[in-house]
Amino acid sequence: MASIIEMRSELDDLLRQAESELTAAASLDALTQCKVAYLGKKGALTKVLRGMGSLSAVERPQLGAHANFVKSQLQEWLDAREVVLAKLASTARIEAERIDVTLPGTQARGGAMHPVTHGMAEMAQIFTHLGFSIAEGPEIEDEAHNFDALNIPPEHPARAMHDTFFVREPASATPHLLRTHTSPVQIRTMKRFLAEGNQPPLAVVAPGRVYRCDHDMTHSPMFHQVEVFRVDRKVSMAELKGVLHCFLSTYFGHAVPIRLRPSYFPFTEPSAEVDIGCVLCSGKGCRVCKQTGWLEVLGSGMIHPNVLRSVGIDPEEYSGFAFGLGVERLVMLKYGIPDLRLFFDNDVRFLHKLAQGRGDQ
Ligand code: FA5
Ligand code: MG
Repeated sequence: MASIIEMRSELDDLLRQAESELTAAASLDALTQCKVAYLGKKGALTKVLRGMGSLSAVERPQLGAHANFVKSQLQEWLDAREVVLAKLASTARIEAERIDVTLPGTQARGGAMHPVTHGMAEMAQIFTHLGFSIAEGPEIEDEAHNFDALNIPPEHPARAMHDTFFVREPASATPHLLRTHTSPVQIRTMKRFLAEGNQPPLAVVAPGRVYRCDHDMTHSPMFHQVEVFRVDRKVSMAELKGVLHCFLSTYFGHAVPIRLRPSYFPFTEPSAEVDIGCVLCSGKGCRVCKQTGWLEVLGSGMIHPNVLRSVGIDPEEYSGFAFGLGVERLVMLKYGIPDLRLFFDNDVRFLHKLAQGRGDQ
């Protein structure tokens, strides 16, 4: 049996040991463990006090008073250490969560124009800078504007060349179709212009969407054209060539060789398809230009007298040039894109890369 003297010294030892342990506790968790070890139900203090039963009635309150002193001392140290550790912990957390407000923020990725929309706007702008006015026409057209007025009568084989999508309608209505080219805008614009009491000169650029039943690497069922035409007295093929030269060099950002190749369109006479020196191999010959060094980019010609007549312009007095270019084709050449279908897959990596190349973002 332990005497009161032994038990006192046990309490004093406990106090000394606790002091060094508590002051060494490095975290709030470690401190809680110390608290349990000394003051808990199964802790060191309880263990000593369990021996009190063997003490006399006089000794018991004496040891009890000493135990209370030890207990309050322990509690005091615990509280003091807890204040220190809590402060350290909060300082560490603040340090860890510190935000450097001088760092640049995460940049939000902005949207950008679709390459075809962008290219078409760029092309139209080159012409507006040359003095051409923008015009538009409907995508759902009638045969009269898409074909008849353009010197393509009903049985004309050129109708078959266009792989037309027709719009289903009641039999009595005028047949409608998805326009196969932007040339009907020539007809609509000239008619409106004259109806408003004007006379040529007239210079128009008409960008827009067109449709054909076509689908491969260089043909899509929906694509875009830019139609350009000018009517005046003495408009010549030389002027056409000059405008084409100016446009293509501006669009590609450097002078490009061009070649007019005799061709056929019912609505122009003479007609020419226009080739440019291959921008990918500089005319040396490559896979894209099929080793010819030349690439076809558009159809053109002098507006056919029948077309001028169909809108009420006298072909004896006036002449005009017209051309229609494929927007996708020109954008492909400018950016070296091998497959037209990439434009319509909506793969954001492709679109983003092109936008970056243009410097949009
Ligand atoms: C025409 O559409 C004529 N209207 C152009 C014209 C206008 C000639 C005025 C004379 C005067 P063509 O069918 O060749 O012509 O088409 C013109 C361009 O559109 C082609 O050079 C090509 O670049 C593009 N194109 C034609 N079909 C497709 C298609 N399915 N997908 C993508 N581009 C096409
Ligand atoms: Mg063609």
